[in-house]
Amino acid sequence: MNRNIAVDGPAGAGKSTVAKEVAKRLGLVYVDTGAMYRAMAIYFLEQGLSPEDQEGITRACRDAEVSIAYENGVQQVYLGGKNVTGRIREEAVGNMASRSSVYPAVRAKMTQLQQALAERTPVIMDGRDIGTVVLPQAALKIYLTASAEERARRRFRELAEKGEACELADIERDIRERDRRDMNRETAPLRQAEDAVLVDATEMDIEQVVGRILELYRERVPEATQGQAGRKGE
Ligand code: DC
Repeated sequence: MNRNIAVDGPAGAGKSTVAKEVAKRLGLVYVDTGAMYRAMAIYFLEQGLSPEDQEGITRACRDAEVSIAYENGVQQVYLGGKNVTGRIREEAVGNMASRSSVYPAVRAKMTQLQQALAERTPVIMDGRDIGTVVLPQAALKIYLTASAEERARRRFRELAEKGEACELADIERDIRERDRRDMNRETAPLRQAEDAVLVDATEMDIEQVVGRILELYRERVPEATQGQAGRKGE
């Protein structure tokens, strides 16, 4: 039985928060594919490569070894056997990930890894091209979005809570720039799959989005959810 869920959408729409919660409630493994692109980015940075150097990045793809494992149910990303999870959220890493993910060699390598993971275990996977390229046969596809203004406000609040100084206008500009890059690249651009359900979270909180996905899953995959969906905090 195909139980996989694909969640795509722009940066900052809340994909990972929502997907983690849905994973818990449905007993699926949560796979954060952005974290894999970020681990690859660390490798490119360590090699001293510039994001414009397509040839160098393509060559480096052959040697980069990215893998993921789960510790207490939390995804850990490894680069050449070293746990790099603590570094993947760095700004420079995010920037390199956004720029290097446009290259076909990077995408081919990540897609292969992600498909191999989904073959081993039922997953909820989030990213930009999961419903369109990585898991086109997913049982449920969600396109989760929110307005750029709202995504910027959420990110601003998150950073402010961590005590990091930032300007709302800079965050919004950065978000719009990432949207542009993700949606306009030639290989596997971010777009809503034809059979994906659009969830606009601009005026929804996390619990409402999770509820909506569970409801859709119960409709689409009833045999997988009997007596299971809706139980909280398992
Ligand atoms: O979701 P994220 O911000 O952690 O992703 C980091 C970058 O990786 C993002 O700028 C776009 C890219 N990415 C991608 O191209 N395809 C995916 N499936 C996931 C992420």
